[in-house]
Amino acid sequence: MSFKAWLEKPAQHIPTRNWGVNMVRGAAARLSHPLLPDDYAQLFHPLWSARELRGQIIDVRPETADSTTLVIRPGWGFDPRFVPGQHVGIGVRIDGRWVWRSYSLTSVPTYSIRNRALHAPLSVTVRAVPEGRLSTHLTSGVRPGTVVRLQAPAGDFRLPDPLPEKALFITAGSGITPVMSMLRSLARQGMPIDVAHVHSERTEAGVIFGSELRELDEKFPGLRLHLQLTGTQGRLDEQRLAELVPDWQERRTWACGPPELLDSLVSWWSAAGVEDRLKMEQFALRRKGATEGSGGLGGVIRFARSKKEADADGATTILEAGEGVGLVLPFGCRMGICHTCSAQLSEGTACDLRNGHIYEEGERIQTCCTTPVGNCVIDL
Ligand code: FES
Repeated sequence: MSFKAWLEKPAQHIPTRNWGVNMVRGAAARLSHPLLPDDYAQLFHPLWSARELRGQIIDVRPETADSTTLVIRPGWGFDPRFVPGQHVGIGVRIDGRWVWRSYSLTSVPTYSIRNRALHAPLSVTVRAVPEGRLSTHLTSGVRPGTVVRLQAPAGDFRLPDPLPEKALFITAGSGITPVMSMLRSLARQGMPIDVAHVHSERTEAGVIFGSELRELDEKFPGLRLHLQLTGTQGRLDEQRLAELVPDWQERRTWACGPPELLDSLVSWWSAAGVEDRLKMEQFALRRKGATEGSGGLGGVIRFARSKKEADADGATTILEAGEGVGLVLPFGCRMGICHTCSAQLSEGTACDLRNGHIYEEGERIQTCCTTPVGNCVIDL
């Protein structure tokens, strides 16, 4: 093993674009052995950590009755560069356990050297969902000053460089969040392209960023916003879309919303033969395998390298089960898209909750969307 690899090893799991940062982390870990460098660092500042990326919530802003924007100042070692549309993993301690989720960044990336040095704040906007323990906590119980864990920004739902001449955004509910970062970024550049935006929400009062969306629409002639209030106007259908955006088939399209909307878009775009122009981001994992009652799901997972075990019922993913016993496992989207969570299934079988596919020993699985079928061993 080279000296560089030896030095980096204690921090090799922390994603970073700058290899030098993890050399510093690793050196701190080796110098402070047998204590952890964080045992010293936290005496001085809660955001200094050699083991993980951290941030501090510095502002909590209500957006609607059930959604809140959190402004987070990242700590040392976090690279604040991201592309509008990407998401960031956030871990919060609730009742003694770290609970992780990915949220789209709603702020605009800041690249200046000056702001990098200052750890420019990021923002995410969270809507409470009934079954969402973390989202409920973040929208109703979190206070400025709370320290959270972070994962590096990731995801390929983003605007290309160079930009297309004409774009279409189709969003619904909290699906506005990744597109808000894109819109803010385009606004900062003076709206250099022709943008049509169709956003669906049940009521006017429920529209996240409603006043800002209208202000942008008024300010930039190149941006056309249509709010589809589904409580009174019904859901967006193909005919309505063609009335609102007659050239929709010619536009590069980014869509984010609930599965029913995205399924409809796939069928419209496929029927028109332009599915390659449609880029989508979904909210959450679709757990079809679990709800269709596949028998024998669940079991004990042994994480071989971490030497820990976790129980998972048939509705809990391997990633969630590992986090439940305190492991910090790799993940990105948590929806089966990005493959950041891929790991080898060393023993046993696992079921993909999206489609019921069974993985056998030796195959690679995505821990964010699989659950064990009986006992299994994962190479993590
Ligand atoms: S975290 Fe993205 S595929 Fe699992």
